Amino acid sequence: MTDVKRGSASGDGTGPITSNRPPHAFSGRGTRNQVNPMFAREGIATDFPMDRMPDVGTLPETAYQIVHDEAMLDGNARLNLATFVGTWMDPHAAKLYSESSDKNMIDKDEYPQTAAIETRCWKMIANLWSAPDAEKAIGTSTIGSSEACMLGGLALKRRWQVARRAAGKSTEKPNLILSSAVQVCWEKFCNYWDVEARYVPISDEHKVLDGHDLDKYVDENTIGVVAIMGVTYTGMYEPVAKIAAALDEIQEKTGLDVKIHVDGASGGMIAPFLQPELEWDFRVERVVSISTSAHKYGLVFPGLGWVVWRTVDDLPQDLVFDVTYLGGHMPTFALNFSRPGAQVLLQYYLFLRLGWDGYRNVQQASQDVAVYLSGEIGKMEAFELWNDGTDIPVFAWQLAKGHTEKWNLYHLSERLRLKGWLIPAYPMPDDLTDVVVQRIVVRNGLSLNLAESLVLDIQEAVEYLDRLEAPMPHEGQVSSFTH
Ligand SMILES: Cc1ncc(COP(=O)(O)O)c(C=O)c1O
Repeated sequence: MTDVKRGSASGDGTGPITSNRPPHAFSGRGTRNQVNPMFAREGIATDFPMDRMPDVGTLPETAYQIVHDEAMLDGNARLNLATFVGTWMDPHAAKLYSESSDKNMIDKDEYPQTAAIETRCWKMIANLWSAPDAEKAIGTSTIGSSEACMLGGLALKRRWQVARRAAGKSTEKPNLILSSAVQVCWEKFCNYWDVEARYVPISDEHKVLDGHDLDKYVDENTIGVVAIMGVTYTGMYEPVAKIAAALDEIQEKTGLDVKIHVDGASGGMIAPFLQPELEWDFRVERVVSISTSAHKYGLVFPGLGWVVWRTVDDLPQDLVFDVTYLGGHMPTFALNFSRPGAQVLLQYYLFLRLGWDGYRNVQQASQDVAVYLSGEIGKMEAFELWNDGTDIPVFAWQLAKGHTEKWNLYHLSERLRLKGWLIPAYPMPDDLTDVVVQRIVVRNGLSLNLAESLVLDIQEAVEYLDRLEAPMPHEGQVSSFTH
């Protein structure tokens, strides 16, 4: 019990607590401030409104603790095997991050060095993606792959419009050809910019967009084809060279010259290191632009993507704006204006820190873990693998036909969540919506030891579910994956 007289403490907790005792009396036994300095202070709010701003402020440490504690209720990032997005960087990166968190990427004039580093980074990436001449390429950082894909799509659309107008033809009905397994950012692109999305459905026979029947989709209004390096649903690569070959044939027959944008959100930073012989990038003539998420296998904290065009001519100049830069001008092509500049510095740090060889080692380690996990899961009789993690370190599996009627992969996902693992289950896109898969994304930081624990947890969960005498309820089951 406190012996401090309740007084007129100021509402924000920063004012004096009035008492009829001298200040030293506060150090007495039972003083509330000592028992719990955070949440037991006299006169300070500890219960905040959730839907409107509090009338008055509170002490910084109390506000910090409240936010910190609420964030603890989020999943554990390291056990989140659902996300592709980086959840760990080393302490040097963390230091650099806090030192540069005030930089605004658009302020090229105020932060010319960050702007110069951005240019260095996309040129390095252009080289990584085999641009014929990185000096003649053009690129930019973005907030992530979604923005990068939008910019790639907008360039395709404008290029098509310019050619159509020059030929005196209509620009009213542009269409874009994509796999039904594209990431939602492409649905957004088509929706926001009035482009008809022509989805090529995936099937058991064609697990990815592979160029089959492309002539049924392409016409004079086609602005381009999207090829995905690392399909979000499964992690599989789409065969860019094969898609290009199908488009070559179409051009021979019809004269239509349809270009490819490669969505390398994940694979753009895996293939150069783990499959350097695979021709998916600017080595394929038809590829005019490539995008990636630096915050996925680029290994940077969330908030950075890249897009690069083969040459400046592939990016219609009327899409480009000027910002002032060292008294001169610098071209920008972006949807955002202000956005953090720190991540660009983090990317540069990693390029210097790891080099090509370091990136290869890190990506190889992730792939080793993915292949180990797919091997172990593939051995379990309850499952059939969809793929094995040898493209990007991501793989999916389905329930073996006839294994059980008592439970499904959503139930398994829930059981694993009890152990902290976040491993989503979801239906495949058209034409395989009756197939439910579960997917693991292996990122830097999932060690082999942790993966071994996961295998044990999956085995234990399957044994539990198999032992059930009655089927699990299906009410309220929702897919934990919506993108
Ligand atoms: C193939 C693909 N494209 C685009 C995106 C969107 O990426 P971001 O989250 O960086 O906007 C993703 C994200 O998972 C993806 O897998």
